[in-house]
Amino acid sequence: MSIELIDLQPAVADLVQLVRDGMRARPRQLPAWLLYDAEGSRLFSKICEQPEYGLTRTEIALLKDHADDIARTAGHGVVVEFGIGNARKVDPLLSTIQPPAFVALDISPSALEQSLTGLAGSHPNTAMVGICCDHSHLTDLPEHPRLNGQRRIGFFPGSSLGNFLRNDAVRVLRQFRQLLAGGPLLLGLDQPRDPTALEAAYDDAAGVSAAFARNLLSRLNRDLQGTIDPQRFAYRAVWQEAEQRIEMALVSRCEQSIELAGETWTFQAHERLITEHSLKYSPAAAADLAAAAGWRIQRRWHDRDDSFSLHWLEPAD
Ligand code: AVJ
Repeated sequence: MSIELIDLQPAVADLVQLVRDGMRARPRQLPAWLLYDAEGSRLFSKICEQPEYGLTRTEIALLKDHADDIARTAGHGVVVEFGIGNARKVDPLLSTIQPPAFVALDISPSALEQSLTGLAGSHPNTAMVGICCDHSHLTDLPEHPRLNGQRRIGFFPGSSLGNFLRNDAVRVLRQFRQLLAGGPLLLGLDQPRDPTALEAAYDDAAGVSAAFARNLLSRLNRDLQGTIDPQRFAYRAVWQEAEQRIEMALVSRCEQSIELAGETWTFQAHERLITEHSLKYSPAAAADLAAAAGWRIQRRWHDRDDSFSLHWLEPAD
C-alpha cells in the first residue's frame, strides 16, 4: 500500500521574532519545539533509553499489553496520530485495529517519511497518509478518498501534552476534538510521583537531558549567527509542586552578554532561560482537564506503579 505525504506546513515561523519574544519575557523562555532539530531529535531518542526516564518504556509496554482491549474499545475507523515521533508506539495498535488508513500529523517531513515507510512494510492493508503541519492548529483533515466518511480514532501518546501549560493544553484538546469530528482519543499522560525520581528522569546521570537542553543554544548559534558558549550555562530540572510540573532551564553561570541575529542580550549570573515544562496529571487532574476541553474519560489503563496512564476520551456530548 502507498505512502502519501501532504504538505500543509505553515510559513516558516519567524525565528528571530520568536526568540526576541522569549528573551524579553521574564523569566526568559523559548518554545519547546525549538529543541527538536536533527541533533535534538537524536538526543531525545537517547533520553528515552536512559534508565531514569521510564516513561517511554512504560507506555510502550502498556500499549502492547492492552492492544487487544484497546482495539475492542476503539472499534472501526482510521487512526490519526498527533506527532509521529517514535513510530513504535502506534505499531501494536495498527496490528489490532487494522484501520483502512493511518494518518500521521507531524511538523517534520523527514520524520513522517521515515516512520511511515517503516510502518508500511508491516501493515500492507493500511494506507499511510502523512500530513506535514502544526497539529495544534489544524482544524480538519484534507479531503482524501481513504478518509471520507470514516470514523476517526485519535492517538496522542508520550505525555506530549505535558509541554503545554494549562490553557494551551485545553485549547489543543478542543482542537483535537474538532478534528476528530466525534471520534475518540487515546491520550498518554505521565503522572506525578516521587520528586527525586522525577528530577532524575529529567537530569539523568549520563548527562543526555543536559545535552538535549544545551543543544538549543547550539541551534540558536547556527540559525541566528549566535555567539553563545553553551558551557556557560548550567542545566537544571526542578519539580514545582504547586504547578505539578518539572521546569527545565539553562542557568547562566556568570553575568554575560550573548548575541543572536545581531541583537545583544545580557544574562545576570544565575538568570534562567526556561527550555520547557513537563506537566504531570493525576487521574483526577486528567479528568478535570478533559472536561474543560469537552471530553469525558471513559477508561484508563495504567502500569503497576500507577505512574503513567493511557486515557480513553470520548466527546462529552
Ligand atoms: C516529549 C514533552 C513528553 O516532558 O517527558 C523529556 C520531553 N524533555 N526529557 C517530557 C522531555 C526532557 C518529554 N515530552
